[in-house]
Parts: sequence; C-alpha cells; structure tokens
Amino acid sequence: MNSLLLLPGDGIGPEVTAESRRILDALALPGLAISEAPFGGASIDAHGVPLTAEAEAAALASTAVLMGAVGGPKWAGVSYDIRPEAGLLRLRTAMNVFANLRPARCFAALASASTLKPEVIEGLDLLFVRELVGGVYFGTPRGIETLPNGERRGFNTQSYTSSEIRRVGVTAFELAKLRAGRVCSVEKANVMESGVLWREEVTRLHAERYAEVELSHMYADNCAMQLVKAPRQFDVILTDNLFGDLLSDLAAMSTGSLGMLPSAALGEAGKPGLYEPIHGSAPDIAGQGLANPCASILSLAMALRYSLGAPEAADRVEAAVEAALNAGARTRDLGGTLSTRGMGDAILAKLGA
Ligand code: NAD
Ligand code: IPM
Ligand code: MN
Repeated sequence: MNSLLLLPGDGIGPEVTAESRRILDALALPGLAISEAPFGGASIDAHGVPLTAEAEAAALASTAVLMGAVGGPKWAGVSYDIRPEAGLLRLRTAMNVFANLRPARCFAALASASTLKPEVIEGLDLLFVRELVGGVYFGTPRGIETLPNGERRGFNTQSYTSSEIRRVGVTAFELAKLRAGRVCSVEKANVMESGVLWREEVTRLHAERYAEVELSHMYADNCAMQLVKAPRQFDVILTDNLFGDLLSDLAAMSTGSLGMLPSAALGEAGKPGLYEPIHGSAPDIAGQGLANPCASILSLAMALRYSLGAPEAADRVEAAVEAALNAGARTRDLGGTLSTRGMGDAILAKLGA
C-alpha cells in the first residue's frame, strides 16, 4: 500500500498544504494511506527539535513526502543546529534525495502576470536539476571562529566528489531525453576547483552514455543574466545546490510568481521522494489566507507522477490548475483577489469538471 506523509511546517506551509490535501481527498486514490507530522518550527514548539526521530522514520517508511515550508522569525533565536531549516537539510540527507527537479513553466494564462515582458516568457518550459545533498550546504570544515587577532571568521566548504556529480548528471540527462534533449550544465569553473571537476565529470558522463543529448556549459553568473534575457533558450539546467537554489527563485518570476514553482527531490529508485513548493514560509503574508497554493498543488502532482504511480491523476491535477488559471482564478501574487482557499476551490471545481 502507498503512503503519503504530509509535513505542513510553518507560516504559509500549512495553508497551502491544506489545499493540496483537499485535492488529494477529492482524487480519492484507492489504497493510499495519508498521515501527518509536525516539522520545522512547529516541531520545535511541540518536541524541541525540527525533525523528530519518529517523523524521520515515518518519512523514510513512506512512499512520498509532501512538505509545506519551514522557518520564520519566531525561531530566529533557536540554536543554529536545530533551526527549522536545519531540520529540512537533515531530512533531505536522511532521504538521500540528491536530485531536485524544479520545473519552471509559464502557463499561457500567466504570461502577463510576470514582471518580465510576455514575449520573453510565453511558452517557457525549463527544468532545473539541482544537486540537493552536497556542495557548500554540507561541506566541512564549517563554522564561526575567533582568530588570535580578535577578528571573527565564518567559513563553509564547497565540495563535490565525482560520484555526487555523476549521479545527479544521470538524472539530468535521462530527463532531457524525455524533453527537448538539451542539458546546460552551470557552475563557476573559472574560479572554483569544484566547478572544474563538475564540468569534467559532466563532460565525461555525456561522452560515455548520453551522446544523443546536446550538452552545453555556462558560468552561473551568465546563466542568471540569460534567465532574465532569454529564458526559453534552456531545456534542462543542471547545477549545484547553491546555484540551483538562487537560479530557481530567479526563474520562478518568469512563471508569474514564486508561488507557482513546485519541486520533486528524488534519490535512488524505489526510495521515497520529497515534494515541496520552492518557496518558503512567507512570514510577511502568513496567517492571512493570501498565499498561492499552486506550487504545493503542482508538487502534489509531481508526487503522484514520480512516487505514487498515478500519472493520470497527476495530469488531472495539472490540467485543473491550468483550467482554473485560464478561467481567471488568481491569488494576490498573480494580480488577483482570491484567497488561498478560493484558489483551492477554483482548482477543485475544475478537477471535478
Ligand atoms: P519566502 O519564499 O518565504 O518568501 C519570499 C517572498 O515571496 C515573500 O514576499 C512571500 O510573501 C512571497 N511568497 C512566497 N511564497 C508565496 C506564495 N505561495 N504565495 C504568494 N507569495 C509567496 O522567502 P523568505 O521570506 O526569504 O523566507 C522566509 C522563511 O522561509 C525563512 O525562514 C526561510 O529560511 C524559509 N524558507 C524555507 C523554504 C522551505 O521550507 N523549503 C524555502 C525558502 C525559504
Ligand atoms: C529551498 C530553501 C532551502 C534551501 C532552505 C530553507 C534550507 O531555500 O528549498 O529552496 O536553501 O535549499
Ligand atoms: Mn530556496
């Protein structure tokens, strides 16, 4: 039997996850057990840590995990190693979800909702494959120290091994074969040795196994500029943990709003995937019913497709989101007036139609 663990988290996390839950209930998938656990700040409040051993075990035992978002000013004072975001990093590591798929797709109805010109983003359909369990987020040594002269030094280590690069590269090339067949690998080989190794390993993997895919390389700073100038030049962007974080938020605006971008974090075949909107807990709008639930609902669709063996249900959910947008349904971030619940209602109505 399939099982889905919901980790609503903090801020707007529970608000958007509630709408995904309603979609899930409407789908009434046979043989799917749904459970829920506190995560992030909510778990700190209840249990003193952002991810309990029980919640971690439940995630590892599930077929898929759908997360909301974690963090917020309420937990700004907790010790750094148990902050809400540390719980998320720990969960990603425990699940070993090394490949983070972040599709940036501009729905036709939203071409004028972006701050970019419609003619630049109409038809945009690109996929980030972001390495998620390595790089500077996890490298050691790391810390803050006081030097003999009294100065303080904060330091982190950017580090990648060849196998870490190759396994996420395989994901990017395999997905490119199902799309337009182009991978752009993004690093800063001009200033970082980890970038040099990244480029060498991706080039070697391509030559060994994926000659039918077109491979190009780009420095991350240029990529940021190209994503604003001409984002449709890209099919799959393969990049590291930190650059993938920055560039996917940047590209989110080409889809109309950060509230539109879903994600799927995948590890070894047969292991559970971790699904979450790419946005955070949005403390500035939390508790007001203003959040756009589309990124969460589209993340649920990715869970249905990649973990739960229900691709038809995934298609239905994505079609319902598109139909609701076509009918003019918009939350405030998209220039509309609907509440989170109102947007959920509009999508539910199309799901039933
Ligand atoms: P954020 O993504 O929470 O918000 C950035 C801006 O986008 C805000 O103005 C917010 O209102 C808006 N926004 C985000 N999601 C939206 C939605 N669904 N609908 C409408 N508007 C939306 O980023 P931040 O403010 O830098 O971070 C807030 C907290 O969230 C921090 O604690 C951060 O660490 C955390 N965070 C968590 C995750 C995660 O859980 N995966 C991701 C990013 C940030
Ligand atoms: C994201 C977030 C996380 C990240 C944080 C909250 C750990 O920004 O999922 O994009 O940096 O990966
Ligand atoms: Mn981010």
